[in-house]
Parts: sequence; C-alpha cells; structure tokens
Amino acid sequence: MIEMLRIEKLYMSYGKKRIIKDLNFIMKKGEITTIMGKSGAGKTTLLKIIAGIKKPDGGNIYINSELVEGSKVSKPPYSRNIGFVFQNPALWPHMTIEENIKFPIKDKNHKEYQEVIDILKIKDIQKSYPEEISGGEGKRVSIARAIISNPNLLIMDEPFTNLDEETKKDTAEMINKIHKRKGITILTVGHIYEDNIMISKRIFKLEKGVLNEENY
Ligand SMILES: Nc1ncnc2c1ncn2[C@@H]1O[C@H](COP(=O)(O)OP(=O)(O)OP(=O)(O)O)[C@@H](O)[C@H]1O
Ligand SMILES: [Mg+2]
Repeated sequence: MIEMLRIEKLYMSYGKKRIIKDLNFIMKKGEITTIMGKSGAGKTTLLKIIAGIKKPDGGNIYINSELVEGSKVSKPPYSRNIGFVFQNPALWPHMTIEENIKFPIKDKNHKEYQEVIDILKIKDIQKSYPEEISGGEGKRVSIARAIISNPNLLIMDEPFTNLDEETKKDTAEMINKIHKRKGITILTVGHIYEDNIMISKRIFKLEKGVLNEENY
C-alpha cells in the first residue's frame, strides 16, 4: 500500500478558537475521499494546511512519504505537488480560459492540455474570457487548471456547491473520468452525502477537531 497523505497529531487554532485537535488521517494512493462537516467545522482550514497555504500550530504531514510539514519543516505550496480547487475559485480576468489553464505549466504545448479540456468539456470556451463563461464552466476550468501539472494529490473544496442536479452529475462523471485516466488521489470537501457518494467510497466527518469515518 502506497500512502499518498499522512497526517499525524495535527493542531490548529485561530486565537482561542480551537479548530483542529490531535487529528490523524491517512489516504492511500489512488483513493477518492470526502470530508463532510458542518459550516465552520474547519474543513477549508484543514485543506489549506495540507496544501501549505496555512501553517498549523503543530503536527506532521507527509505527502507521498515525504515530510512537508513538521516542527522543523514547512514546504511551500508549489513544492508539494498538490492541485487545489478553491471553494470560490478565481480565474485571471485578463487571460483567456486556455491561458488560465496553462498558467501553471512552462511548456505551453503541453500534450496533457488536449486531454484535460476534452475530459472537462472546455474545448468550446477555451478562447473565451472568465467573465464570458458560466459558474459551472468556471468550476470545470479551475479543475482543469489544478490537474494540468499532474499533481500527486487533487484537493477540491466543495466541487458540487451551487450547481444544479444535472450539472452535479456531469461534474461527478468528469471527476470519475479524471480519476480513472490519471489514477490521481483525490480529497474533496462537501456538504451533501448524495453528491459526494457519486465520487467517493470513503466519507469522513470533521467534528470537534477530529476526523471520524462514517459508515452509512
Ligand atoms: N483566517 C482566519 N482567522 C480567524 N478565524 C478563521 C480564519 N479562517 C477561518 N476561521 C474560522 O475558523 C472556523 C473554520 O473555518 P473554515 O473555513 O475552515 O470552515 P469550513 O468547515 O470550511 O466551513 P464552510 O462549510 O462554511 O466552508 C470558522 O469558525 C471560521 O470563522
Ligand atoms: Mg469551507
């Protein structure tokens, strides 16, 4: 079993407000897992700590067996090889969709680009600007941007929020396709069990600062 993510004894507070307390978590390579939990439980905080965007108060994080966060180590986000789709993704308004997606990569003729826009059905809007596309399309573009550099781990903060039922299903299908083709390990956060079960086999609940596996 190859471990893609290991979290040990993680702690995080904002001032006196304790958000994460002695949290331990392991994800195997190729797994899709969802973290649920009520608003304010600390889901986004946890994802940002894993990605290196926020620094925890304590604990160790390993990605692909490499220590990226610890008492003497804190690797910056760009060296963790993580793709991140934010809860409210922002695209560069002055760049086309194609330029937005290719922004993280050096080789602009990247062969992956065609595959990624094919899976995510972006072909028809690639020359448009962000203000000319819909919210659902914007979400797909931000997923494309997150996977273009073949990350070890794809993190998505609420990929189904604000989508209608049909678009949710389409998005779930695309995420499953990405997973199948690329064997990528995926960690998502979501609110609605029925949405998340379309992609995830394992569901955890973040409650009182720790993660508990849910058995439905
Ligand atoms: N930078 C910050 N400074 C202080 N408090 C913060 C900060 N970021 C988040 N918080 C607080 O920490 C708690 C957890 O926030 P977080 O965004 O991680 O929750 P969440 O589980 O993602 O919620 P939601 O489902 O609404 O997105 C909230 O009470 C929030 O107000
Ligand atoms: Mg959140």
